[in-house]
Amino acid sequence: INKIGVLTSGGDAPGMNAAIRAVVRSCAYQKLECVGVFRGYEGLIEGDFKDLDARSVKNIINRGGTFLKSARSKGFRTKEGRQKAYNHLVKANIDALVVIGGDGTFTGALVFSEEFDFPVVGIPGTIDNDINGTDFTIGYDTALNTVVEAIDKIRDTANSHNRLFLVEVMGRDAGDIALNAGIGAGAEEILIPEQDMGKDRLIDSLRRSKKSGKTSSIIVVSEGDQIGKNIFELAKYIEDNLEGYEVRVSVLGHIQRGGSPSCYDRVLASRMGVGAVDALLNNEHNVMIGIVHSKIVSVPFEDALKGENELDLELIRVADITSI
Ligand code: F6P
Repeated sequence: INKIGVLTSGGDAPGMNAAIRAVVRSCAYQKLECVGVFRGYEGLIEGDFKDLDARSVKNIINRGGTFLKSARSKGFRTKEGRQKAYNHLVKANIDALVVIGGDGTFTGALVFSEEFDFPVVGIPGTIDNDINGTDFTIGYDTALNTVVEAIDKIRDTANSHNRLFLVEVMGRDAGDIALNAGIGAGAEEILIPEQDMGKDRLIDSLRRSKKSGKTSSIIVVSEGDQIGKNIFELAKYIEDNLEGYEVRVSVLGHIQRGGSPSCYDRVLASRMGVGAVDALLNNEHNVMIGIVHSKIVSVPFEDALKGENELDLELIRVADITSI
């Protein structure tokens, strides 16, 4: 391997810049050439490339977003699009790729690498933490801190007005952000897609805690939760069925995707970036770099992409006990 291409694809995540930086500097360290691909697979299809050296990635470790930009490419889902991408890679003498993104990114990488027998290594970058084979994805820790900071502020006003707040957080089909930020922010209830609580149990539980002396409440709702899917309807249902609370809704949205990455995410991204170049040099193909029990590992794309979200019963118990 002489020349490695690097791209970011799918929803951006804080720490992606730190991961690109680590890939670029690892290439410089190993005396390999490195090429940045703009806008994920879209830039691959169009040949939108730029040579990167160690100095091209200065002053970005602290920056949110991705300087290579990101996209969700429809073209790469077609054989024709992938053929164009392959032709551009051959023309530019790029002989391996590092792709930073989530499950959509790895699905594309797997199809592409098998179709053209092209070496690809993945780095998990998504705030959702919904990838198998790694304990953490890049951006997740920063997003958790953003959510907790936001809920702390909501708590102030909820408390002043004796209100109940529904706070919607991201995560697509995974409840990781909701569950962990919910515990960290001291939420009263946490609604996640992995567990169907049902509206009646929710009302009963809120009634019990009101009786026990609570004067305000925060319910963290994961965007993928069944009863939380229409959060404004849920707010109305609670107001109609639970006496004595005014209910307000706060949808945190894309602020969860931005901001300067936490130290944890910067270190994780740096380790994974170095791990990705090491893997390519060790002739490992079609694997994702993960972190398991604090150690860098490589996991076949197939394994990273499979599996249901598992419910962490210990965390649920902690949430239940600490919100009594
Ligand atoms: O996968 C990251 C994520 O932020 C999810 O949490 C969310 O469901 C989705 O992306 C939002 O996508 P978009 O950027 O297209 O609004």
